[in-house]
Amino acid sequence: MKIIVANTEKEFGELAFAEIKKVLDKNPACTLGLATGSTPIPLYDEMAKDHQQNGTSYKQVHSFNLDEYVGLPKEHPESYISFMTRNLFSRIDIDMRNVNIPNGLASDIPTECARYSDLLAHAQVDIQVLGIGGNGHIAFNEPNTPFDSTTHQVFLTQKTISDNARFFNGIDEVPKSALTMGIGEIFKAKKLLMLASGKNKADAVYRMIRGEITPSCPASILQNHPDVVVILDKDAAALLV
Ligand code: GLP
Repeated sequence: MKIIVANTEKEFGELAFAEIKKVLDKNPACTLGLATGSTPIPLYDEMAKDHQQNGTSYKQVHSFNLDEYVGLPKEHPESYISFMTRNLFSRIDIDMRNVNIPNGLASDIPTECARYSDLLAHAQVDIQVLGIGGNGHIAFNEPNTPFDSTTHQVFLTQKTISDNARFFNGIDEVPKSALTMGIGEIFKAKKLLMLASGKNKADAVYRMIRGEITPSCPASILQNHPDVVVILDKDAAALLV
């Protein structure tokens, strides 16, 4: 596990982008695993800036997002498809036909989970961007999710609901359920790029890197992956020194 601590938010975005750019340079038709949340925004800003200034193209790129809320209309500003379109897809030249996000509005949720798992089983994600929840979750795999899980529906913990309430007009508006890529599927990516910033992540980051490998901290499984880059800001790295 390679751990890098960024000095500024700009550097945080640049360091994360450098990892994505290496993969893109090697294979312009690569498959990116993408994440939502406030943490990857500096990365998406760098991708958009580089596309605009240097013309890096995403025309041949395929992407898989980690998760989506259940029941939130696609046009709701906090649906993950809206988030991704606003923060990244509309700012680069990716072909929307190559974009994959679980459909949280599917009438048959188990079939939708099986569809997404099947797509992932036939793909190879080259680099998967990840954030971490304050309780150590990755994507929406909450504590005690089996390490070999595939795409499934989750009911969010109270901690995740209250953490995500800041994006909504109050806690009651936060969806209670989501679809998430499973930990087993996340682990299959060739490279994992874990991003964490802010004091509220310091404890989870410590447990991910130094703690026991246990389903009670889903992110701790990263210790077993052969190619992980962790980019932290100083606050998120605070307990590691
Ligand atoms: C959400 C997402 C995760 C994300 C986490 C952290 O619950 N499903 O994929 O990593 O929150 O979000 P933030 O980056 O906003 O702290």
